[in-house]
Amino acid sequence: MKFAFSTAVLSLASLASATILPRQSCPEASRFGNLIVSSPTNATSYNPGDPIDIQVDFHCAITNFGIVPQFIDYTIQVNEDQNNGHEAPIVLARRTLAAGATTDEFSTTIPFAFYFAGAPYNVVLTDTYPTQGTDGTSQVLLQGGIEAPITINASS
Ligand SMILES: *[C@@H]1O[C@H](CO)[C@@H](O)[C@H](O)[C@H]1NC(C)=O
Repeated sequence: MKFAFSTAVLSLASLASATILPRQSCPEASRFGNLIVSSPTNATSYNPGDPIDIQVDFHCAITNFGIVPQFIDYTIQVNEDQNNGHEAPIVLARRTLAAGATTDEFSTTIPFAFYFAGAPYNVVLTDTYPTQGTDGTSQVLLQGGIEAPITINASS
């Protein structure tokens, strides 16, 4: 009886915290998701073949901004203003969200591409999402993106 009581109190407590959590703020910067790039080996720089973990939280994007990804491209890029003209985007993955999902998470490895010394690489998430066309009936796909810096050691 005592055990049952404390279980009930515990689940009430977790219900209470669950109702408080969704009150998180949704800054404009979170409209395409919150991207977290991490290393399962705690590496601070990467070589080709090294494992990398990607986690994205689309909760604010979907519930607050109504931006629901139709598909999501993950690439490694050097931004145009710092690109030497030979640093094409390197594709990590193209993914879709499962119906109803508000997060995406996967593990992959750094592709065996050529990496330039000192280039400011970023992991870039490009979110392709539907909007209503100006005719009121058709659908227009727009793209937006977010990025997270990553240090990749130069190819030799
Ligand atoms: C990575 O860092 C965390 C936190 O310091 C630690 O708990 C974990 O064991 C580390 N993992 C590896 C593979 O070194």
